[in-house]
Order: sequence, then C-alpha cells, then structure tokens
Amino acid sequence: MRFQIVFTFFLFQIITVLSAQNTNNLKYYPVLENIFVNKCGKCHNLTENSPFSLLKYEDVLKNRNMIRKVIAEEIMPPVIIDTTYKTFHNVITLSQEERKNIINWIDNGLLKGDKKASKIKTVKQKTKVKTSFKINLDRHLALGETNKDQYVFSVFSLPIKDSIILSNYEFVIKNKHLHHAELLDLQNYYGIPENMDILNADYELNKKEISIDRYLIGWFPGSSGGVFPKNTGLKLFGDRKYMLILHYSPTLEKHVDKSYIKMEEQKLKDYREVLEYGLHGTAKYIQENKNQPFIKANEIKEFYFKDTVSYDMSAFAVYFHAHHLCEKMLAYAVTPENDTIRLLKIDKWNFNWQFTYRLDKYLKIPQGSIIHCFATYNNTIENIENPFNPPQDIKASFFSDDEMLEFFILHLNYSEEDEFKKIEYNN
Ligand code: HEC
Repeated sequence: MRFQIVFTFFLFQIITVLSAQNTNNLKYYPVLENIFVNKCGKCHNLTENSPFSLLKYEDVLKNRNMIRKVIAEEIMPPVIIDTTYKTFHNVITLSQEERKNIINWIDNGLLKGDKKASKIKTVKQKTKVKTSFKINLDRHLALGETNKDQYVFSVFSLPIKDSIILSNYEFVIKNKHLHHAELLDLQNYYGIPENMDILNADYELNKKEISIDRYLIGWFPGSSGGVFPKNTGLKLFGDRKYMLILHYSPTLEKHVDKSYIKMEEQKLKDYREVLEYGLHGTAKYIQENKNQPFIKANEIKEFYFKDTVSYDMSAFAVYFHAHHLCEKMLAYAVTPENDTIRLLKIDKWNFNWQFTYRLDKYLKIPQGSIIHCFATYNNTIENIENPFNPPQDIKASFFSDDEMLEFFILHLNYSEEDEFKKIEYNN
C-alpha cells in the first residue's frame, strides 16, 4: 500500500515535470502561430478596426508586454456574452490551456522555432470587403469644441445606376469621438427623432419632407462591418435618397472625421433580402412614461420589454444596443407552442464591444412568438462606467450620457427547411 502511494506520487511528479517541460519548450512554430493567427489575427490584421496586426512572429514580439497583460487579465479576445447560453459563428474564445501556453511562452523567452514546422499555409492579409464604392463620413469639416453631443445629418444619392445588391460592408473608423453612425433608406414614413440637434445637413432638412423607410446599416464601437449569408443582401437604388446620421460624443477637442464605409456589390440574379427586426425598449419606455427618468440616481434597475413577431423569420444574427450604465442583458423567444428559443445573453455589457452575433444555422422564429428582453442598469457610483459622479437621474434618449435599450434580429423571410441549413457567409 505504502509502495503504491509513493509510486503514484512519483508518477504524478514525472507527469507534472513532463508537462511543465512541454510548455517551457513551446515554440512560435507551430503552436503559438496557430493561436495568434487563428484566434487573434481574425481581428488583428490591419483590415479590421484593431490597433495592430498579430499575424507574424515579429508583430507578437513587438507587442509582447501588452499581450501578456491582456491574456493574463482575460481582456482579449473580447468576450462579453455567456457562451454557455448560446454560441455564435463569430465569437472567438481562448481555452485556459491556450492562455497558459501564451503566458509560459512569453515568460520563457518567446522561442521562435523552425518556420518549417508551421501548419499555416498562407496568412491572408488581404482586404476582407471588396470596395465597389465608398461613402465618406466627412460630412462636416469642423466637429467638436462645444462639449455637447453633436449630430450630423446628410441626405444624398448613392453613386449607382438603377439598383445593386449590397452583400458586405465595412465601416473604417478614423475618429475616436464617433459614437454611432447609421445609413437609412428614405421613403415611406416619417421618423426623425424630435430631440435631435441638427448640426449640419447637405440638404434642406425639413421634417415634413423626410420619411424614413428603413434602417439599413450602422456602426457602434467594437463592430466594424456587416457580413451577410451567401445569396442574400440589401437592395440599394440609384434614384433614391439615403440619409447618413453621425453622432459624436461631447468633447472640447476640435476634430474632423476621415472615416468611410466600404460597400461591396454582388451580382446576383436570385437573392433573398436581409431584413431587420427591432425591439425598441427606449421608444416603448418613452411612450408609456413621459418625462419620467429611465433610471433614477443611485438606482439599480431591471427592465423587461416584450413584443410579438408578426411573420415567420429565419434569423441569422442578433445584437443589443445600450450606453454606459447597462450591465447585463438577456433575450429569448417563446413560440406559440411554448418552446423557448435562446437568443443572446450578455453578462458583462461593454459599450466598446457592440458586436453583431452571427449564427451557424438559421433559427426559425415563428409568427406569434413573443420576444422577451431583459436588461439591468446600474446607476450607482459602484459602476465604474457611470459618466456622472455623483450619479444623476438618467433619461431614455439617443444622447450618449442618457440610456437606451434596443434588441435586433437580422433575418430573412422564412422559407421551407431554412432551419436545417448551415449558413455560409460571404466572408
Ligand atoms: C473580436 C476582435 C478581436 C480579437 C479576436 C482579438 N482582439 Fe485584441 N483588440 C481588438 C481591438 C478592436 C482592440 C483595440 C481596443 C481599443 O482600442 O480599446 C484590441 C486591443 C488589443 C491589445 C491592446 C490593448 C491595449 O491595452 O491597448 C492587445 C495587446 C491585444 N488586443 C491582443 C490580442 C490577442 C493576443 C488576441 C488573441 C488571443 C486578441 N487581441 C484577439 C480586437 C480583437
């Protein structure tokens, strides 16, 4: 018995020493290269809105101290959702072993190893979204200085004949004060928010003349582009007016905006139109509680909104929008048959990481389903994101220091068997 214990202990020691030796001897080729290219390089590749590339050994070497910190503190890759509730096509996570490997490798001198051991054939560094045409955001040349939220509207036609199918787009952001951008299709009904200050417009902006047909695409911090499933897209027309809304956060600094949107056209004979469903908690709250604060000072408040789906949808992506006081959100649907469809659970909401979460398979949300949406806001001083000290009563509005709650589902009109199809994306 004694022998057995000693033997087991001895064996355990050998295994520990062996595995420690393994991680001490880790080399960039092939183990670390695989992690950096496939996990980090999806964003750190100079074509996305990330600060530097991490596709090469030299890139990693240069940024090693910062990398060690963001890996040890679990800041990177940025994951704010509960992946045990639902996983998504484009959420990149690191296993604890991968984290340990990165740290050990850095602490042991970032050994390079032999390039021949590389398992990665070609490192793609080419532009992801092809540019059929560009829309510049520099609609107003002197921004800032006022220390107030600024909204810039402009109405224009797109540089296209007849119509095109927009298959992908990317917001290339060059201005740190940009808080939000969106492109709207103007047509059927009126919908300019009453409380917006109009700083500038290329077009004589008359509320009675303008009617917004639909929201097309938008940008929030952390997001960069829109990737749609193959053979789907948004139809854009040469003879229509489009409106760009740009929202800049308050600053005393004078600035300009050199950001732009890349649009990629796809020549498709047969395509399915991308549609957006929105549960607008902010608007519902304002309708029901005129002039009441959304969240009182020093209050932690949970909101619950629901809405009924009026036609069969094939969902392919979901996302939330709020500002700084929000901490967590949850959305799910309950079908008329009482089945629950999980949609999205965010446990560590972060204003800077507003991703669009793409699904692997279409999710059928049948007509008559109820979308349930919960969100908790912390307006106490314990919330380090609170823009006010001492905390103030916060309204529901578009302004950056006020709050919002929006939940969106990108989808197609349901078609037979969609729910059994794996989605192939354009990129
Ligand atoms: C989903 C996209 C995404 C992924 C995946 C990702 N990053 Fe990042 N990373 C970013 C963006 C965007 C920033 C810039 C954040 C900012 O400016 O606040 C950033 C910033 C950083 C920084 C700088 C932090 C600082 O304090 O300035 C480091 C270091 C970093 N990432 C390392 C990594 C490593 C290592 C991985 C892989 C394990 C990784 N990232 C995966 C998007 C990503």
